[in-house]
Amino acid sequence: MKIAILPGDGIGTEIVAEAVKVLNVLDLPFEMETALVGGAAYEAHGHPLPDSTLNLAKAADAVLFGAVGDWKYDKLERSLRPEQAILGLRKNLGLFANFRPAICYEQLTHASSLKPELVAGLDILIIRELTGDIYFGQPRGRRIAVDGHFPGAEEAFDTMRYSRPEIERIAHVAFKAARLRDKRVTSVDKANVLETFQLWKDVVTEVGKEYPDVALDHMYVDNAAMQLVKAPKKFDVMVTGNMFGDILSDAAAMLTGSIGMLPSASLNANNQGLYEPSHGSAPDIAGQGIANPLATILSAAMMLRYSLNQAQAADRIESAVSAVLSAGYRTVDIASEGTTRVGTREMGDAVVAALTGATMTK
Ligand code: IPM
Ligand code: MN
Repeated sequence: MKIAILPGDGIGTEIVAEAVKVLNVLDLPFEMETALVGGAAYEAHGHPLPDSTLNLAKAADAVLFGAVGDWKYDKLERSLRPEQAILGLRKNLGLFANFRPAICYEQLTHASSLKPELVAGLDILIIRELTGDIYFGQPRGRRIAVDGHFPGAEEAFDTMRYSRPEIERIAHVAFKAARLRDKRVTSVDKANVLETFQLWKDVVTEVGKEYPDVALDHMYVDNAAMQLVKAPKKFDVMVTGNMFGDILSDAAAMLTGSIGMLPSASLNANNQGLYEPSHGSAPDIAGQGIANPLATILSAAMMLRYSLNQAQAADRIESAVSAVLSAGYRTVDIASEGTTRVGTREMGDAVVAALTGATMTK
C-alpha cells in the first residue's frame, strides 16, 4: 500500500504528522513517501505542484494531504499560487467525486453554533463534483468587453459547464452512497436560472430511475443553504456541482461544531483517492501546536476504508477518536468547560494511546 504524504503549508505539516503517527501504530505494510506541495513546494522548486510531487501522487494508491495556502502568496500569478496544487492534483488524478461528511459527534453537540437539538445526531454526506463546473470550465480569462453593460471596459469571465457523462458518473456515486445510508438523495442545482444546472437536474433524474430504492428530491442551492441552517437533519446525501459543493460543505462543516473535525475523500474511477481535512492551512495558528489533527486522522481512516481496503483499521481509528472525545480531550477549536485542553501533538498521542490500549495521560 503506497501512500504519498503531502503535508503542504501552514498547519498542514503539524496535523499530517499526527495522522502519520496514527497510521504507523496500525502495523500494516504501508510504504509512505513525503513530498512538498503548495507554498512549500513553490519556495523550494518554484512551482506549487512540481512534477516530482505529481508523479509520486499518481504512483500511489492514496494521497494523504494536509492543506495549502498562505496570504503571502496572494500576489503571485494564479498559476503559481498554492491552491493550484490541489486543483492540479484533482484534475491530473481525475478525482471527480468528493465526499464531505458532516457528522456531529454527540460529545461536541454543544460546540455547534446552532441549537443542540438541531444538530444532535447530525449525519449528512455532501458529494461534490470536483473536476468540472466553473472551476475548470474553458474559456476563462480577461479581455476588453465588446458587448454587455460596459462595452470597451476590462472584463473577466469564467465558464460554467457540465457534460452529461460528468453528471451521470457523480450521480451514480451519490445513489450508491445513499444505498449504504438512509437511501435519500437531494440534488442541489440552480436550474431556475442556469442551463448547466437544468442539464444537471435532468440527468440526475434519469440516473435516479436506475435506483428506485433511493428517494430523490431536487432543491435550489439558495434554498439548500437555508435548509442547511434551519433543519440540517432532514438531509441524508446531498449531491451537487463543484462550486455549490464548495460553499455548502463549508456551511455544513460548521454545523458540527468545528471544521477541525471533518475529513474528506476525493476519488477517481479506480478508487485511487486523495484524503484531506475539510479545513484549510490556517496560517494564523500555524506553528503554535494548537491545531486540531482529528480531521486529518479521520481522513486517514477514510483512506483506509475507500482506497486501501482496510475497513477494520478505519473502524479502529474512528473508535479511537470517539474514545478520546469521550475522555474529554479537546483542542482549542472544540474546547468547552470541564474538558481537557490539549495541543496538536497531545491529541495525536491520545488517539495513539486509545488505539494501542495504553493509558492516556492528561
Ligand atoms: C476546498 C478549497 C479549495 C476549493 C481551494 C483551496 C482551491 O476551498 O477544498 O474546498 O475551492 O475547492
Ligand atoms: Mn472550500
